[in-house]
Amino acid sequence: MNYVQFGATGQQVSEMCLGTMMFGDRCDQAESDRILATAIDHGINFVDTAASYVNGRTEEILGEILKGRRDKLFIATKVNNIDPQVIRTSIDESLKRLQLDAVDLYLLHWPKAGMNPTEMMSALNDVVKAGKARFVGCCNFPAWLLAHFNAVAAQNNWPSLVCNQIPYNPIERGVEVEVLPSALANHIAITVYRPLIFGILAGKYRPGEAIPEDSRGNTDPRIPRWLEKYGEGITHFNQFAADHKLHPAQLAVAWLRYSPAVTTPIIGVSSARQLEASFPGFEANLSDAEYAEVTAMFDTAVKEEAGGAFVGLRRDLNLVA
Ligand SMILES: NC(=O)c1ccc[n+]([C@@H]2O[C@H](COP(=O)([O-])OP(=O)(O)OC[C@H]3O[C@@H](n4cnc5c(N)ncnc54)[C@H](OP(=O)(O)O)[C@@H]3O)[C@@H](O)[C@H]2O)c1
Repeated sequence: MNYVQFGATGQQVSEMCLGTMMFGDRCDQAESDRILATAIDHGINFVDTAASYVNGRTEEILGEILKGRRDKLFIATKVNNIDPQVIRTSIDESLKRLQLDAVDLYLLHWPKAGMNPTEMMSALNDVVKAGKARFVGCCNFPAWLLAHFNAVAAQNNWPSLVCNQIPYNPIERGVEVEVLPSALANHIAITVYRPLIFGILAGKYRPGEAIPEDSRGNTDPRIPRWLEKYGEGITHFNQFAADHKLHPAQLAVAWLRYSPAVTTPIIGVSSARQLEASFPGFEANLSDAEYAEVTAMFDTAVKEEAGGAFVGLRRDLNLVA
C-alpha cells in the first residue's frame, strides 16, 4: 500500500480509504470485522464512516471491531446537520458509538440552504478545541463554498476544512471543473466516494442482463437507470479491463488515481472478498493514452459539479450571515 500526504495536515494516510457504509447494511458485524482485518493486513490506516449510516448502527459496529486496533488508524466520521449546536453534540454521540475519545477527522456531510458559515466553523472550532477531533473537513461542497468557509476560518483563526469528500468516477466528472483544480491549488485533500458508481464499474452488472441477486442493484433504483443510460460504455469498460488483465473495480481505481488531485479513493465493499479484489488497482498505472481511452467510453461532457449533486444547491443554497 502507498501512503500519501493528507492535504495540508502533515499526516500521511494509506492511498486506499476503507468505506464502511455497508457495515450493518449489506454486511453483518462478523463480515465487517473480516473486512477491517483484511484492510489492516494490507496496510490500510484510513477508515471513513458517518453518524447517519444505518442510523448510527455502522458506528456501533465499528466501535466493537475497532477494539485493540484504534492506534493504527486515521478515523473520519460525519455530521449530517448544519445546526451549530448539533455539530457540537453529534460528535459526542458518534464518539460514544465508536467507543473512542476522539476521531481524526470530523466532516460536514452535506451543505444545505440556510447554513451560517461563521457559526458552523465556530462549532467545528469548539470540537477541535475540546480534543474530540484533530481535523475538520466537508463533503459535497462546491469549490466556492469550501473557499468561503475557509476564509471565515482564517479571519477567526479557527481550524480550516482540510478535505472535501466528493463522488467521482468516469461517469460523474463534474468535479473536474472547479472542485479538483481548486483543491490542488489550496492543498485540500480529496477523498473520493462512489469510485465504482454503486458497483456498476465492478463488472458484476452486464447491461441488458438480469441484475445479480445479491447486489445493491436490487434495492437501489439508480443502478438500473445508470445501466440503461451507460450500458454501451460499461460493456467497453469491462472489455478494456479484461484486455488489460484487470478486474473492472481495479480499472476504476486506476482511472481515479491518474488525477493528481485525488488523495484517496474510498473503497466501499460488502465483503472481504470484494476488498481483496480492489488492491491491485492501487498498483496499476494507466498511460495517458489508456486514461484517454477509458474516459472517452462514456458520454460525459463535464456538465455538473459532482455529477449533478450540486444542481439543486446552485439554485437553493442561501447562506445566512
Ligand atoms: N460523503 C458522502 O456523501 C458519501 C456518500 C456515499 C458514500 N460515502 C463513503 O464512500 C464509501 C464508498 O461509497 P459507495 O459504497 O457508494 O462506493 P461504490 O464504489 O460506488 O460502490 C461500492 C459497491 O460496489 C460493489 N463492489 C465493490 N467492490 C466490488 C468487487 N470487487 N466486486 C463486485 N462488486 C464490488 C459492492 O456492491 P454490492 O453490495 O452490491 O456487492 C459495493 O457495495 C462508503 O462506504 C462511504 O464510506 C460517502
